Amino acid sequence: MIQIHLIAAARPNFMKVAPLYHALRATDWAEPKLVHTGQHYDHNMSNAILQDLRVPEPDFHLGVGSGSHAEQTGGVMIAYEKVCLENRPDWIVVVGDVNSTAACAMVGTKLWIPVIHLEAGLRSGDRKMPEEINRLVTDSIADVLWTPSPDADENLLAEGVDADKIDRIGNIMIDSFEMLREGIECANTAAELDLESGQYALVTVHRPSNVDAAESLTPIVDALVQAAGSLPVVFVAHPRTINGLEKFSLKEKLADNSNIKLLEPVPYMRFMSLVTGARVVITDSGGLQEETTYLGIPCLTLRDNTERPVTVSMGTNKLVNARSLAENLQTVLDGKWHKGTRPPLWDGKTAERAVEFLAQRSQQQ
Ligand code: UD1
Repeated sequence: MIQIHLIAAARPNFMKVAPLYHALRATDWAEPKLVHTGQHYDHNMSNAILQDLRVPEPDFHLGVGSGSHAEQTGGVMIAYEKVCLENRPDWIVVVGDVNSTAACAMVGTKLWIPVIHLEAGLRSGDRKMPEEINRLVTDSIADVLWTPSPDADENLLAEGVDADKIDRIGNIMIDSFEMLREGIECANTAAELDLESGQYALVTVHRPSNVDAAESLTPIVDALVQAAGSLPVVFVAHPRTINGLEKFSLKEKLADNSNIKLLEPVPYMRFMSLVTGARVVITDSGGLQEETTYLGIPCLTLRDNTERPVTVSMGTNKLVNARSLAENLQTVLDGKWHKGTRPPLWDGKTAERAVEFLAQRSQQQ
């Protein structure tokens, strides 16, 4: 049996790892092992999501937790190297762009274990984002680069990556959505919140550049309060965002507004139910830019750049800021938002293509 480590660390990783885990489990030649680095540890940021995705308890839990970038990255490297020395896998699959992605890629390549990066090649061009550094480090050392869209292939080729290493397999997060579509459709989270489907804005904001300083978070909160004058707003707040709201005394502005519902993180199916019922999504999340494009829901992204430009060029996404939010929201409410189409290979079959790739490579070895 081929041993494959799947590395999951933070909330957005779980949705990318789960379809591959299930697809590998269904083969008679591969044994996937889930490695949870513990970067996200709150129940709603981790276990509740894994349960939704029907993934069993991780085979290895590194329990790294919070810390500075160096503490998290170093902690994961030290702990994961021990795991690899005692339980050497045939392949390591790292996903996304979090600190654990780069950390485990470095451990694997230094031990000469082939590393695959799932969701490779995305670039925002903004080296102030910690995620961009993680993407650059991971892509420059991984042995195989599984990309979601043509722009990712182009970025890698422009950086001098050998074309043989690049394999465009599609967007695996769509697999998770399709796998759980029935449960998502039954969840009806909006009704639990006394909201009508199609009649509210869903908000998530957690990028350090938006929430770690009062100068950036205050205008966003003010713009959301203004938006709540036009339609109900559901704000699902990441722990990092709650910290910022409390630190800068902004939480009451949201919590005291009767047209704003401020919620803690919500597990995957209940959250995706909220997404599917939203009139518009306001976010700085990478995953949501993709999910809204797939679902054809208008998405206003509170960022200066995106590593997912295909969601703007083909999909329903647009980059905005706190100042231009109201005007763009009005365009949505007037029914004048661009329709968008689904990028190729965002079809719920990405895990199948990944397994096919691994089957072929394993036969060659
Ligand atoms: C991380 C990723 C980011 C990803 C995001 C998704 C990096 C550099 N960033 O950012 O790419 O989009 O996850 O959510 O890897 N915290 C909790 N409970 C938790 C997890 C975190 O309270 O379960 C708190 C931490 O103590 C810290 C803050 O949230 O104060 C930030 O957590 P951290 O994992 O450092 O980064 P994220 O902002 O979540």
